[in-house]
Amino acid sequence: MNFSKLLSYEIDNQIVKLVFEKQPLYLTFIAPGVIRVSTNRQIKSHAVKDVKSTPVIINVVSEEPLEFSTALIKVRVNDGAKISFLTTATNDKICCDCREEASLFKNKKIRIYKETAPDEVFYGLGETGGFFNKKHYSYILWNTDNPDPHTENNQSLYKSVPFYIGLHNGLIYGIFYDNPYKSYFDFGKTDPSVCAYAAADGELDYYFIYGDCIGAIVKGYTDLTGRTPLPQIWTLGYHQCRWSYRDESEIRELVARFRKNAIPLDVVYLDIDYMDEYKVFTVNKTQFPDLSGLISDLSRQGVKAVAIVDPGVKIEPGYPVYEAGKKLGYFAVTPAGAIYQNVVWPGPAVYPSFLKKEVREWWQQQLRGLLDKGVRGIWNDMNEPASFAGPLPDDVVFPGDEKDYQHREVHNVYGHYMAQATYEGLKEYDQRRPFVITRACYAGSQKYSTVWTGDNHSIWSHLQMAIPQICNLGLSGLAFCGVDIGGFGSDVTKELLIRWVEAGCFFPLFRNHSASGTRRQEPWTFDRETLEIYRRYVRLRYRFIPYLYDLFYHHQKDGSPIIRPLVYHYPNDINTYDINDQYLVGATLLVAPVVEVGKRNRIVYLPEGIWYDYRTRKKYQSGYHIFDCPLDEVLMFVKNNSILVGTLVADYIDPAQHDTLIVEVYGDKAQYSHYYDDGVSFAYQNGDYQIYDISYQNEFLEISLRHSGHSAGYRRFIVNINGKEKEVTLNGGSRRLKI
Ligand code: GLC
Repeated sequence: MNFSKLLSYEIDNQIVKLVFEKQPLYLTFIAPGVIRVSTNRQIKSHAVKDVKSTPVIINVVSEEPLEFSTALIKVRVNDGAKISFLTTATNDKICCDCREEASLFKNKKIRIYKETAPDEVFYGLGETGGFFNKKHYSYILWNTDNPDPHTENNQSLYKSVPFYIGLHNGLIYGIFYDNPYKSYFDFGKTDPSVCAYAAADGELDYYFIYGDCIGAIVKGYTDLTGRTPLPQIWTLGYHQCRWSYRDESEIRELVARFRKNAIPLDVVYLDIDYMDEYKVFTVNKTQFPDLSGLISDLSRQGVKAVAIVDPGVKIEPGYPVYEAGKKLGYFAVTPAGAIYQNVVWPGPAVYPSFLKKEVREWWQQQLRGLLDKGVRGIWNDMNEPASFAGPLPDDVVFPGDEKDYQHREVHNVYGHYMAQATYEGLKEYDQRRPFVITRACYAGSQKYSTVWTGDNHSIWSHLQMAIPQICNLGLSGLAFCGVDIGGFGSDVTKELLIRWVEAGCFFPLFRNHSASGTRRQEPWTFDRETLEIYRRYVRLRYRFIPYLYDLFYHHQKDGSPIIRPLVYHYPNDINTYDINDQYLVGATLLVAPVVEVGKRNRIVYLPEGIWYDYRTRKKYQSGYHIFDCPLDEVLMFVKNNSILVGTLVADYIDPAQHDTLIVEVYGDKAQYSHYYDDGVSFAYQNGDYQIYDISYQNEFLEISLRHSGHSAGYRRFIVNINGKEKEVTLNGGSRRLKI
């Protein structure tokens, strides 16, 4: 990019204008560790809403070279707008622009080349295939519907989150390139000493985030782009899906079978065949003559229905959604002004422009029909947007609020705005905490929606890919995420299904889904052994619901992911940098599933400290260990001096029935705070919740109610201290006892 010589600078409050010969560059100091670097201050962001700056004192430490410092970062500016970020305290290089442009991405308008240390590792970047550490790989952010198996050489999947975390020599930073155009990342693949970024168009606009731990970077990023609000608690239960459960009786039988087999179930999905000829907002009356009746019967059994809603509107004269959208001018058009057509499930179809508020509001009106039938969540799919008759041309026009956008500018945010439309529609009409799932998204979509990783396959490499994917999504703000358990395409085997439910039973979204034409993969598909193991892990998930819900509570406060890679808590331990087959649930629980065919043992890496084997309560020191792991087991370890909470397992999650909390203490000194509310409404935002503080020290356990704003609460606590169990109740607001 052409800036040429640095001529002067001006400081206006927390903004530094750098005047270069060719164009200016602005440094906006948002917090002592967060700096925005942009060529223009008025760029429209689709991800960042209102930036809340904290007061930052900017010191000019040197004029030649020009250097500014905050309490945390020093920014050095050289000719050509080459920026270096260093630590204020020790002058260590955190991340610096290369002095010369590297050879790649020469024909892209926006180009940035950052120096890369030999030991540097990279994480995040939303949804990508392959392994956890992105070093030596390259990616193209362009939301893509790719039904072929996703492998590590795959450059584009469904989501575009131009944010990554770099870590080297104990220094941790994040960079968020807020540009929705097609973008390119090369993490030292072409040149191991360069991390290159480019975008096809738009402006240079990025946020540099520095902090002392990965959590601080994720917090900084989610301060900018938002967090997932607390979901309804049932969404943390088990979800069963299939493309498609074709009629009412199939769904009734499915639910009956879960109940008969004592496998908890909270959610059943209606995939595209519930519609009449795949026309959105219609119902196939032959297969679903009484959808409301079906949903209310399910609801009596504690099961919620989630319906798919795709963006493509079938072109059919007389079909009200098509006719209305056409009359109102709500669909994308060609540069000549004709409605743009492509092909998706319903055949020839058109694309609503969710970039426009009016269109989003119109869409929300359409959603009401489904909500009136009792549907409790909406699944947004095919919103890359997918197109079976070739890609949408770059110049297709999407009407927006401020201006009409070309497809090339908003392709990557189409799913984001569809999710926003859906979230806001549900919030206004249903009034409960909305449950939306989307396949395509952009940075910041976590404010509106849960995500899943699209069409994986029932192959072992996709089970292996699931852990890095979930870890990287969580580091990219998309904490509420999941993969299709069992795999979507291809035929699952007994062993693969078992290992998948074991590996995935703690994933934030826990959904089994499979494609039409593939082998069935409901829990009973194989044999009694499979069914029993499957039941065991779904039930294990339900036991941990209060712990998972606590993690969601923390996420909406500080952005912390639910599922974390080990490096998240142990960034100074290089043994954690490339772990692809273990993860942490919160800070306390380490899960090491078997993800290889035929394996009945595995090596587990335990980071710093002492860990308890969850099965035996036997203690292990940090380091590498080999454990047996038969087909029916998943290895789990609990960190010394910690507390885990759980609940009694029921057929489904009903917060009103949660009157018992299981408290498990590991070690001789531990503390935990547990959050509890109605699990459904927004009343918690007005203080309607409980917080229990639990601590254990000197052989005394103390439970006390720190915040009591909710009418219901726990009647009893089943306490297990290092294996010794006891039942207790609270006297008034607290209880202290020796176990
Ligand atoms: C897409 C989705 C998949 C869904 C299918 C039919 O392939 O990714 O989950 O089942 O469309 O709607």
